[in-house]
Amino acid sequence: MILRDAVRVLVANWDGSHTVPSRRLYPHQWSWDSAFVAIGNARWSPRRARSELLSLFGAQWPDGRVPHIVFNPVVPDGAYFPGPAFWGARAPSGAATSGIVQPPVHALAAWKVHQAEPDPAFLARIYPKLVAQQEFLRSSRRSPEGLISIVHPWESGMDNSPAWDLPLRAVEPDATGFVRRDLNTVSADERPTDRDYERYVSLAAAYRDSGYRRAGAFEIEDPLFNAAYGMAETALAEIAQVCGLDPEPHRREAAAVTAAMVGHLFQDGHFRPRDLRTGRLIRSGSAAGLVPLMLPGLPTEIAEALIGTALDRFSLKDGVLPSHAPATAEFDPARYWRGPSWINLTWLVWQGLRDRRPDLADLLAEGMIHAVAHSGFREYFNPFTLRGHGCRDFSWSAALILDVVAEHGLDGLPPSGREISQKFGSLPEPHDVGDHVLA
Ligand code: SER
Repeated sequence: MILRDAVRVLVANWDGSHTVPSRRLYPHQWSWDSAFVAIGNARWSPRRARSELLSLFGAQWPDGRVPHIVFNPVVPDGAYFPGPAFWGARAPSGAATSGIVQPPVHALAAWKVHQAEPDPAFLARIYPKLVAQQEFLRSSRRSPEGLISIVHPWESGMDNSPAWDLPLRAVEPDATGFVRRDLNTVSADERPTDRDYERYVSLAAAYRDSGYRRAGAFEIEDPLFNAAYGMAETALAEIAQVCGLDPEPHRREAAAVTAAMVGHLFQDGHFRPRDLRTGRLIRSGSAAGLVPLMLPGLPTEIAEALIGTALDRFSLKDGVLPSHAPATAEFDPARYWRGPSWINLTWLVWQGLRDRRPDLADLLAEGMIHAVAHSGFREYFNPFTLRGHGCRDFSWSAALILDVVAEHGLDGLPPSGREISQKFGSLPEPHDVGDHVLA
């Protein structure tokens, strides 16, 4: 039932070449959402998964950046704020886009899509785009120490993590009286506050007004973003090999960013964000600091310390990963990124535990399945009660569950991607993905 329901969500959120994260709350294409959706769709419709990634990269900018939103022109203007008029940006394809980015989990997604159904032609097509995405980050965002910075909380993917409270204090709120659309769908006490929104808008406007070139008052080296960047190089090494290209530069880059993270962001058993404005690490309890577990080159003693932190401060043994450490004053089990459990964050940490601690990885897999069995494909979950919060029928919650079940199984069923696709053989395959995507 869970599998069938997950596919139903993904079918309902499919827009012909890509998937919206949520019909009402997020009615366009989001960058890291599409990567997670591709990972899940690969389990029952690899063609749809390839289309998801290729359509996103169809809106890549000439400088290599992959915008965090690609707007669908048929969605009414008022459906989402900030929309195309606010960002004032267009990709060479003609698509209206935002001008900021999100964690680069796409190379990993492309590699997983290929593993689900080998397609060297797809890899050859997407490889240069993925390399350009990384090159944008290197040329525009990399410090001499080898770490990548983000210029907006939205770029972290964990928009209103308590980790950003301190740096956001330096941002002048925008008082122009824009109209929030998110509160039409989700209750205000599960979303960022108005004051936070005013700061997001002000920062985005400052970056836009610099021609999307100069950071405003927010510049952070984030462990999740840097771990994604490092994982992308690891995945690119695999992809390069299939394409008959030299994987070594990618392996060197993955090793370099891993070393830079260990050297500069690791403190007291946890990876911390660093505020470039002050040069200081932010001592927050964000679960983003556990995501570097994904990096295969992470030294064993660092991985063990992180696992200790996950057990002590994030009660990993319960099988549900809160997005913020529950013992902190700022923890909130129901508000967007301030404590609830998210399937994508849990999936990232699960990936990092599968080789290192299969026992804990199994607990997390079961925890994710349990959460959606209890509350449906909600956007996020109270980590103690599993009550669902945010929007319903959220795409990456559905997609990643398909991946988790394919790897981990469900109620003792032997897991296999083939089995899942057989179960869904009668569901519609994507038909009309359009030549602009597949040409
Ligand atoms: N995640 C943001 C939102 O809530 C924007 O990317 O709308």
